Amino acid sequence: MTEPEKKLSAKQRSRRNFLGQSLSAAGAAIAAPSLLNACQNKSVSASNALVEGETTIELKINGHINKLNIEPRVTLLDALRENLGLTGSKKGCDHGQCGACTVLIDGQRVYSCLTLAVMQEDREITTIEGLAAGDNLHPVQTAFLENDGFQCGYCTPGQICASVALLEEVKNGSVSYVTPDLTNPPSLASLSETEIKERLSGNLCRCSAYNGIVAAVQQAVGQTPPSPAASMENSHAG
Ligand code: FES
Ligand code: FES
Repeated sequence: MTEPEKKLSAKQRSRRNFLGQSLSAAGAAIAAPSLLNACQNKSVSASNALVEGETTIELKINGHINKLNIEPRVTLLDALRENLGLTGSKKGCDHGQCGACTVLIDGQRVYSCLTLAVMQEDREITTIEGLAAGDNLHPVQTAFLENDGFQCGYCTPGQICASVALLEEVKNGSVSYVTPDLTNPPSLASLSETEIKERLSGNLCRCSAYNGIVAAVQQAVGQTPPSPAASMENSHAG
C-alpha cells in the first residue's frame, strides 16, 4: 500500500468510527438500553400527579408500556421527547413537512408531529430506539452506516424508520406514484432507484446525503449498492 493509500485508509476508518458514534447518538438507545429503561421508568413514576386539563393514557412504545398524564393537545412527538425522554425522534419542522419525526405505528410510518399522543393507546409504537435488538443493529441501521447514509444525523432516525416501513410496504405489494405498471408491483430485488427516491420523498435531508441513503436502502433490500438499475438510470440521465 502506498503512503497516500495508507493515509486515505486511516481517514476512512476514522470517518467510519465517527459515523458509528453519530448514528448511536442519533438512535439514542442503540448503545444504551439501560439509559432508555431508566428514562421510561422515570416517566412512569413522574406521571403520578394528575393536574387539571391532563388525562392518563398508556402508550406501548418499543415493547414497554408507558403510563403518563398528558394534555389531550400534546403531539406524539412531544410526548416521546418531552415526557418520555425518547429524543431519537427529531423535531424538524413540526408541520409534517420534513419527516425527521417519523416513527412506526402498527408497522406503518407516521409523522409523530402530526398525531396526538392520546390517539395512540392500544397501538404498537416503534421509535428509532426500538429497532436494534440489544447490541445488534437493525439491518437498515447497518446499511446506513456502511453506505454513509448521513452526515449530521439529524434526519437519520426518521430516514431509517421510513426505510424500515418502505421494505414492508414493498413486501406487501404496495405501488407508488412512479410504479410503471400498477398491476405489477416491484419486488425488493427489482426496486429501482426511482422507486426508492419516490418512496422516501417524505423525508428531507438538509445535508443532502441522498446518494448514501439510496445506497443504504439498496443494500437493505438485498441489492448491491449502487444497484444495476441505478447505474442504468444514471446513464440515461447523462
Ligand atoms: S418534524 Fe414532523 S414532519 Fe417535520
Ligand atoms: S444527515 Fe444532516 S439532515 Fe440528513
